[in-house]
Amino acid sequence: MPGGSVGTPSEHELDEVFDVGARAFGHREPDAVVDCWRQSTILDRIVVSRDDTGEIVGSAISIPTNMTVPGGCRLPTAAIVGVAVVPTHRRRGHLRAMMSYQLGDLHARGDHLATLYASEASIYGRFGYGPATFGARYRIARRGVRIREPLGDRAFNGSVRMVGVELAREAFPALLAELVQRRAGEVDALPNEWMDIEGTGNEVDAQQRFFAVYEEEGRIDGALSYRVGPTDKGEPWPPRAVFVERLVTLSDPSYGALWRFVLGIDLVEEIRTQRLPLDEPVRFMLEDHRQMRVVAYGEKTWLRLVDVGACLASRRYDDEGSLLLEVEDAFCPWNTGLYRLEAIQDLPAGGEPASSPDGAVLAGGADGFAASVERLDEVALGRAVPDVRLDVESLASIYLGGLPVSALARAGRIRASSERSLVRAERMFRTREKPFCSSQF
Ligand SMILES: CC(C)(COP(=O)(O)OP(=O)(O)OC[C@H]1O[C@@H](n2cnc3c(N)ncnc32)[C@H](O)[C@@H]1OP(=O)(O)O)[C@@H](O)C(=O)NCCC(=O)NCCS
Repeated sequence: MPGGSVGTPSEHELDEVFDVGARAFGHREPDAVVDCWRQSTILDRIVVSRDDTGEIVGSAISIPTNMTVPGGCRLPTAAIVGVAVVPTHRRRGHLRAMMSYQLGDLHARGDHLATLYASEASIYGRFGYGPATFGARYRIARRGVRIREPLGDRAFNGSVRMVGVELAREAFPALLAELVQRRAGEVDALPNEWMDIEGTGNEVDAQQRFFAVYEEEGRIDGALSYRVGPTDKGEPWPPRAVFVERLVTLSDPSYGALWRFVLGIDLVEEIRTQRLPLDEPVRFMLEDHRQMRVVAYGEKTWLRLVDVGACLASRRYDDEGSLLLEVEDAFCPWNTGLYRLEAIQDLPAGGEPASSPDGAVLAGGADGFAASVERLDEVALGRAVPDVRLDVESLASIYLGGLPVSALARAGRIRASSERSLVRAERMFRTREKPFCSSQF
């Protein structure tokens, strides 16, 4: 990046910042979307890169949020959006310079994690981000679909009601606020969240949105946003599908009832979903599970441990045990070092712990073995034999339980001192439920 500089923009440069994104992605967002980001963006959380004339040629924006980690603790997290360098200035180091500045800034602010969606998988590993949550888009053939009857005591007593946008606008935020606390990888709703659910980014889309809620004993336990539209240009009656834009449920009955509603909509050939978890249970509601096909599998969010020690101490572990971890972090050297992780039983599990070791808020009843983490000094680093050696990118991929330790070990990305150490690490880092991020940002 010869002659350039990195810093924050002034308020009157905001249009330029958003234009960098438009030029880099070759796509101008509708005004409503740009306005939404403009109003919610915090100026000193925007990083811009300038060329030697002072013109803004790159941007990277961080939005403060919280992420749930295994066990229920919610860590201060930066959601990174708008990473862009204009086509005339690519491959001159602007992105590298912005990433370095931004991670230093997040560390100074006390953000423990950073997360993003990557346009290409080969960009962010070098900056210590690893793929951390995974999902698939599905298609379910509608014709002849038959749903299994739920076992008697799982039957639902509530009902599904179609509602207007006003009620949906109240229901979704309340449901999301509860949902994000229950699953690792979820973040607090971001500024664009409601626009995605309502389809407001696009006028035609917004007009075609429908909403339904599941109610039981006067309580809304689930909400659905969907549209019905053609799947291709067939004439005169193009085949149509239900596009499930968002389904948020807090109970099994509401999940079952809202999926039954979707699967029962007439005049469509199939149901299409956004990315959902890999173990999405609706498959097992079908008599013929092959009616549900995976059409796109891949990672969802990428994760960066900004403060490795705080992150290790804040999650719960699925098994008790002790591990000596050697972590290499070439991009954020403050993390490189040897960490002794002791996951022990006698801290409150399933109860009401007050807070994590560094004061982050714990959501709900924590689950799993709490850990104490000790950072060993340089001398120990030279002498000790670590149980597990890995870089911070691999640590990000196992941290939420998204990838198993053993898979990365077989791929040569994690080195264990023995088979026993590997099994111990595998058991400690695994999670009963796979992490997921339902927010798209
Ligand atoms: C991706 C993008 C931000 C890269 O910016 P850049 O200024 O050209 O990147 P840099 O010159 O700083 O490159 C930094 C490193 O990343 C690598 N890199 C950059 N873009 C890459 C890509 N698309 N694929 C693979 N590697 C890439 C470079 O080779 C370089 O590697 P090295 O320093 O380890 O040798 C830019 O090309 C862009 O805006 N693309 C379109 C929008 C987009 O995809 N944004 C990312 C959204 S998540």
